Amino acid sequence: MTILNLAEYKNRKEHIVMVTCYDYTFARILNDSDIDIILVGDSAAMVMHGFDTTIPIDVEAMAVHVASVSRGAPDKVIVGDLPFLSYRKGLQSSMEAVEKIMKAGAQAIKLEGIDGHEDLVRHIVDSGIPVMGHLGLTPQSVHQLGGFRVQGRTEDDRERLKKQARACQQAGCFSLVLECVPDTLAEEITQMLDIPTIGIGAGIHTDGQVLVMQDLLGLTRDFKPRFVRSYLDGYATMLDAFNRFTADVRSKSFPAKEERYTG
Ligand code: KIV
Repeated sequence: MTILNLAEYKNRKEHIVMVTCYDYTFARILNDSDIDIILVGDSAAMVMHGFDTTIPIDVEAMAVHVASVSRGAPDKVIVGDLPFLSYRKGLQSSMEAVEKIMKAGAQAIKLEGIDGHEDLVRHIVDSGIPVMGHLGLTPQSVHQLGGFRVQGRTEDDRERLKKQARACQQAGCFSLVLECVPDTLAEEITQMLDIPTIGIGAGIHTDGQVLVMQDLLGLTRDFKPRFVRSYLDGYATMLDAFNRFTADVRSKSFPAKEERYTG
């Protein structure tokens, strides 16, 4: 799988599978899996660092996550998120942010929205760097959106999102994440565009799906949006492992003879 194959996926109507990842250990597992793309998302701010939004994470922290993932998953396409405001402070500083993420090991970058940075996207693409767009619920704008809520519910919003989707394609994005939009809108955008769409909370008609790894593995207990399907009760499984270790230590059944260096 390379960025170039993605267009073929769309033509063949074969769905693209993307999962987020932020560290080496999980990246190694994903490297051996059947998934197509790893997204080192700025959701790292929330699931790895415990913030309420994606706003606090900066380019340096994102570059550390990208580098860890790229060491663990050399065979996968890795997309790195540009964090909050890192691409809104002028060309020089935006390109420095792109450089850090790419030099850390990403093969493409993702950024949210398009209004006001169409030229920047063109410039990044013209610099030889693939760009993934992201529309709908764009978490970096959570305060402007009034919370993490479904977008594109009114006719005006639908039209605005369709216009933005066209702008992403025209600016040279190779694919587009659609987050938390009604399935009929995601379907319209997917049919309208030549580039593949990858949905999260956007229904079945997108060209691919993405989930945050912690959600997919059932590692988070506090919050489960309706679009999440967990394939493991990771929280319960891990809790049980920690508690069994504790019990074994306290009962002195760990370490056993074969787990000790004797002599
Ligand atoms: O940061 C992230 O994890 C994302 C996905 C939700 C698409 O942008």
